[in-house]
Amino acid sequence: MRNKPLIVAVVLVLALSVLVFSAGWMFGKIRARSDAPQLPVTAAGAVPVDARAVFIPGAGQIDAIRRGVPVDQEGHPPPMAHVENTDIKRTRAYPMQPPTIPHTIDGYQVDKNSNRCMLCHARANAATFQAPPVSVTHYMDRDDQFLATVSPRRYFCNQCHVVQTDAPTLVASGFRDIDSVLAAPAPDAAPPQAAPPGGG
Ligand code: HEC
Ligand code: HEC
Repeated sequence: MRNKPLIVAVVLVLALSVLVFSAGWMFGKIRARSDAPQLPVTAAGAVPVDARAVFIPGAGQIDAIRRGVPVDQEGHPPPMAHVENTDIKRTRAYPMQPPTIPHTIDGYQVDKNSNRCMLCHARANAATFQAPPVSVTHYMDRDDQFLATVSPRRYFCNQCHVVQTDAPTLVASGFRDIDSVLAAPAPDAAPPQAAPPGGG
């Protein structure tokens, strides 16, 4: 047997680990027994948090992160939101709002060397993929000059465009669409009214 020293070493290491393991086990048992009475009773478990709770600004504290759970208690985090991949566009709240992305963008790389979004959204490729080409503003520099390719200001698409998720509203918004502002009666005809929470 040429590997005799190796086998001896392996057997020694194994024996040592068994020793260390059993020592640790025994000491752990002793410690656990002496610690047991001091452990706090946590039978009640965590306080469940209503992930759909909406906090209205102005109506007290905006607590979008702890969502009403006392600081000395642990809440269940709301489930992670799913990215919608339905190809259904959402209303833009105002004409210059960057539209939200109606498809998933997992693995679409945008870096110095390549821009996956422009594979479909560049003017030249849009017809092939039936994607809306980026609008003319994406070719304008800060002096409103038109460039031949997408402007560096608009190169990193995710700076402005976000995917659509089914995440619940965290904080209510009093934003009102211009159409609802125009449709409201003139200020002198009726006393001004507070915006309804959650509108817009
Ligand atoms: C494989 C082709 C493809 C790629 C890659 C792609 N898109 Fe799209 N995108 C589409 C198509 C097609 C639509 C039209 C709606 C639909 O079918 O989902 C669209 C719609 C959009 C819209 C909505 C436009 C509107 O008028 O409402 C935005 C914003 C958008 N994409 C942004 C992006 C961004 C940002 C990326 C990169 C992270 C990207 N897309 C990558 C194909 C693509
Ligand atoms: C600085 C913010 C910003 C960046 C960065 C940006 N966009 Fe936009 N995008 C907008 C705004 C604002 C609009 C809506 C008004 C407009 O068309 O300019 C828009 C509109 C769009 C539309 C709809 C065009 C139409 O005619 O309806 C598409 C598609 C789009 N962007 C894709 C992209 C892609 C792909 C990129 C990355 C190459 C990108 N955007 C980068 C702000 C941005």
